[in-house]
Amino acid sequence: IESEQKLTWTGAAKRIFETPRPFESNKGMYGHVLLIGGAAGKAGAPSMSSLAALRAGAGLVTAAVPTSILNTVALITPELMTHPLSEDATGSVALANLQSKDQWLKKISVLAIGPGLGTNGEASEFVRRLVLESDIPLVLDADGLNAFKDQAALLNEASRNGARTIVLTPHPGEMGTLLGITAKQVQADRLNLARDFAQQHGVTLVLKGSRTLVAHPDGSIAVNTTGNPSMAKGGSGDILTGIVAACLAQKPNQVREAVASAVYLHGLAGDFAAREMDEHTVLATDTVAHLSRAFRYRT
Ligand code: APR
Ligand code: MG
Repeated sequence: IESEQKLTWTGAAKRIFETPRPFESNKGMYGHVLLIGGAAGKAGAPSMSSLAALRAGAGLVTAAVPTSILNTVALITPELMTHPLSEDATGSVALANLQSKDQWLKKISVLAIGPGLGTNGEASEFVRRLVLESDIPLVLDADGLNAFKDQAALLNEASRNGARTIVLTPHPGEMGTLLGITAKQVQADRLNLARDFAQQHGVTLVLKGSRTLVAHPDGSIAVNTTGNPSMAKGGSGDILTGIVAACLAQKPNQVREAVASAVYLHGLAGDFAAREMDEHTVLATDTVAHLSRAFRYRT
């Protein structure tokens, strides 16, 4: 199967993060991630994603979240910048924010959309329009993906048939939502579904779970060898979103390597956390705390 499917491993790609940064580095060289997520009562997910993006090396990270949770998100991570989004009646991001999008999207190098966003009120329509009306490299996760339920064909339009970088990070349930099938059906045919979806929609697809798959628009696919059951806990996916966005922000011209590295490093950090702690007790933020060891690890 391996040779037929051209199955590779994610680990080798990590080498793009092994060379030291130039001594005269400045933050402008490492990109600006804008994380859009959260809703009233859902401050944790966007906080974890943006923390992970900072820890994984993005030059700047801004979290754009509904006003009612902005102070909470800001207080969790002082290094983080924030941008307030107006809310609709359900406490979700309002469509009205699109009117000023040219201002708050200025100088953003990677847009990550979804963690904690919910699908209430205007949230999903906001996501679809923002995705279609912008040209910035994009990471879509969680409710950013659910916004395309029954409308996955729009992703093709959004990717400009593969010319724009779009990375999707569904878990099997979200993948099922995109395809109109169950999570169980996704799990029964992971490799083919991931490869076909990436190819058909011109996107990079990260199909999560034990042995995460990374499928590219050209039909190639890689399997991740890191990660463990300690990561089967809420928040782990939000952390991955931030790491993927940060790796893309730093290596915008090496999308394949950046995404594979992000997936590999996320799992490896989880492996170090589980080894040092215990597989039951590891929190998603403990995985972030072990990212240094993952970045420094040499095979
Ligand atoms: N082995 C390796 N990696 C694993 C394992 C495992 N056994 N279990 C989980 N992981 C990794 C996945 O590969 C993925 O990177 O942990 C991450 C989990 O991501 P998500 O499933 O997106 O989880 P998360 O978003 O953090 O958690 C809860 O999921 O169903 C939704 O609505 C629900 O918002 C909630 C969210
Ligand atoms: Mg998730």
